[in-house]
Amino acid sequence: MMPRLFISLGVVISICISCDEGGGMSGGEPVIELLAPTTLTISNLGQNSFRVEWSSVTGADFYEVTIASDDLFDNTVSPYNELRENSTGLNVSNLEMSTEYFIRVRTVIDDQRSDYSITQTVTTLSEPDGEPDIALKEVATTFKVGMAVRASRLNGLHAQILEKEYNSLTSEFEMKMNIMYPRQGDYDFSKADAIVNYAEEHGMQVHGHALIWHAATPSWVENFAGTDQEFEDMVKDYITTTVSRYRGRVVSWDVVNEAFADGSGNLRNSVFLQRMGPDYIKKCHEWTRAADPDVLIFYNDYNMVTDDTKRKAALSLMDEFIRDGVPVDGFGFQMHIAYNGPSRSRIQSAANEVIDRELLLHFSELDVRANPGNDLSSLTDTRAEAQKKKVKEVVEVYNGIPDQYKFALTVWGLRDDESWLLDFWGQADWPLLYDKNFALKKAHTGFVEALQ
Ligand code: G3I
Repeated sequence: MMPRLFISLGVVISICISCDEGGGMSGGEPVIELLAPTTLTISNLGQNSFRVEWSSVTGADFYEVTIASDDLFDNTVSPYNELRENSTGLNVSNLEMSTEYFIRVRTVIDDQRSDYSITQTVTTLSEPDGEPDIALKEVATTFKVGMAVRASRLNGLHAQILEKEYNSLTSEFEMKMNIMYPRQGDYDFSKADAIVNYAEEHGMQVHGHALIWHAATPSWVENFAGTDQEFEDMVKDYITTTVSRYRGRVVSWDVVNEAFADGSGNLRNSVFLQRMGPDYIKKCHEWTRAADPDVLIFYNDYNMVTDDTKRKAALSLMDEFIRDGVPVDGFGFQMHIAYNGPSRSRIQSAANEVIDRELLLHFSELDVRANPGNDLSSLTDTRAEAQKKKVKEVVEVYNGIPDQYKFALTVWGLRDDESWLLDFWGQADWPLLYDKNFALKKAHTGFVEALQ
């Protein structure tokens, strides 16, 4: 009889009770049998890489990981041949795409090796639809390429693609007032911190977006219980606190976003205009500069190519600022556009109006609707080609401006199904560079071709 006694040191001790032949050491001396990890989990699967994690074994000195291209482990993949790993996970890279790999792990304690774990298999991703897998930041040599991110998506395949493609991040909504200052006197920078920390860890810049925006103003600010002077003091405190916190870490801020009303050229009738008067934008720019003398200050708005009245009004304000020495460094065209417009020539001439003023130009929120007329239920090849052409035009225009006015071209999200446009318009669309399965689209190729 050979009862097994489990103890907590990652070993199984077999005790020979009846002490007959061959069953164990004489005199009941224990036979130590090391445990191997019991589960292996694959994540971050890409075309050339993945991550493997395994269950820990208590007392393990380290683990040995072997990866092979055959299930007998005859053809191991260098350097993963009994590779020593002290933690319980390993990032595996430099693999072939569309290839099946076999992984096993064993435990080492005091120079004793366990049996191997069960074998885990994984197949690396293929290159989808023949679109070339060329990283945007590798071909954009004279400006940063950015993406809108959420703190909850800085992991897995999102992070893998982000780190491969982009060198600039914009927070999609977590660096706005309603998230960072939800209650009076009570700041919450947890999500903003996560994004800024991630960017720093991965050598990316952060474009701050957006300190003041009528559509992301917390209700306590909308219904502020205090005098106009107290309101202004509160806004100054918020801008000073926020910009100081990220001083030297956030390279630029959209200070006031979308201050102008559509079509009229008037300032939008926001609570900031009502409480502080028309000088509120100037004051917000000045408080930003005071809190971080080196930060780049942007004004950012939508329909800047198509709404001539709004663009001219916003640029007139920039002219006043430049004339009066009010800080402003750049101008953001959001670029929420469609496959069928605006035309390249309109984009070009609107861009020229910004660089004529010697301001930096940011194409700050690019997405290209493929289904503005709601005539498609799935993205056709023809429409994908048309979308690609528009993306290529946008990038060609941006790349063609003089280098000293370039800042970044930022895409507003990663995968089609994550775009704000789906909820906003309540209809199907595919406005981004990756499809819902993380596959590269023709639109991505259009971006790349514009820079090659
Ligand atoms: O409030 C909850 C938050 O507590 C929670 O953690 C989160 C979890 O998903 O949901 C939050 O609501 C989010 C909301 O912003 C907060 O304000 C929504 O999910 C989120 O989708 C939402 O929309 C964002 C919107 O701005 C408002 O901030 C969009 O994602 C973002 O794409 C959109 O971006 C704007 C630009 O900033 C300015 N230009 C236009 C563009 C599109 O509207």
